[in-house]
Amino acid sequence: MNTRRLVGFCIKVPLGKFEIGPEHTDAAYLNDRSRLSIDQHQGTGVLPEPVRYPWHMNDIANLRKSYERAELNESASAADPMQQFDQWLKEAIASEVPEPNAMTLATVSSDLRPSTRVVLIKGYDERGIVWFTNYNSRKGLQLAGNPFAALQFHWVELERVVRIEGRVEKVSDTESDDYFNSRPLDSRIGAWASPQSQVIDGRGTLVANAAKYGAQFLLQPPRPPHWGGYRLVPDQWEFWQGRKSRLHDRLRYRQSPEGDWLRERLAP
Ligand SMILES: Cc1cc2nc3c(=O)[nH]c(=O)nc-3n(C[C@H](O)[C@H](O)[C@H](O)COP(=O)(O)O)c2cc1C
Repeated sequence: MNTRRLVGFCIKVPLGKFEIGPEHTDAAYLNDRSRLSIDQHQGTGVLPEPVRYPWHMNDIANLRKSYERAELNESASAADPMQQFDQWLKEAIASEVPEPNAMTLATVSSDLRPSTRVVLIKGYDERGIVWFTNYNSRKGLQLAGNPFAALQFHWVELERVVRIEGRVEKVSDTESDDYFNSRPLDSRIGAWASPQSQVIDGRGTLVANAAKYGAQFLLQPPRPPHWGGYRLVPDQWEFWQGRKSRLHDRLRYRQSPEGDWLRERLAP
């Protein structure tokens, strides 16, 4: 198959019409046999086929985006960061961004090495942010040794990031039971079947475990003792809103010793 790779382009903007946008784009392509060709594309500079993977190093270095959707300022943001978070999470859900409830969780091991993974937020209130997992997992063992963590939401389409840091505690058994019992049956069996983060022989181990626990518990699996919720109690938040020319808005909230929230603007 004859494929072409984009190697450069030039957007032609008519003089005096910068606000109107490009008139046309000249795109240079290199084909399989190192032959260069130049195509002209009319309109906004959106390049059609065959601009496709693999991205080469230079292509990646040149990937850029201008953030222009919204702004975040001191007067329009909530004094309480949890209220600001509530507003942004609701806006992310209403905007139907993919997996608005997915957040990156960073923990640190006893030898001070950080690690991250994605988990789902399952609740939040004035006490903090809750997710559920296996207490014997890698993150669970790290939290047992060092109960501080960081969370990050990145709502790409909204050009927004929320960073949250604080101390982590286990939620009460009742909270874990309530959430566990609300899960679909296969997820409840899965909590028994998967020794999360441990090395297993193959997928067959999981399937065999699921069959075993399914037969044992039928429709009423109890919550495994090694499975439950964590709550991060925030002592620092940051709300990031992408802005034009890399002059992004960053508002950080820090808790004073008296428990009040101090809101500060950080340089982007
Ligand atoms: C979108 C998404 C949501 C996830 N949600 C959870 C979750 O809520 N709880 C969980 O234990 N793992 C969740 N995972 C899997 C974790 O990212 C991770 O693989 C697992 O928790 C093991 O991490 P660890 O070995 O660092 O403990 C999710 C993964 C993705 C991609």
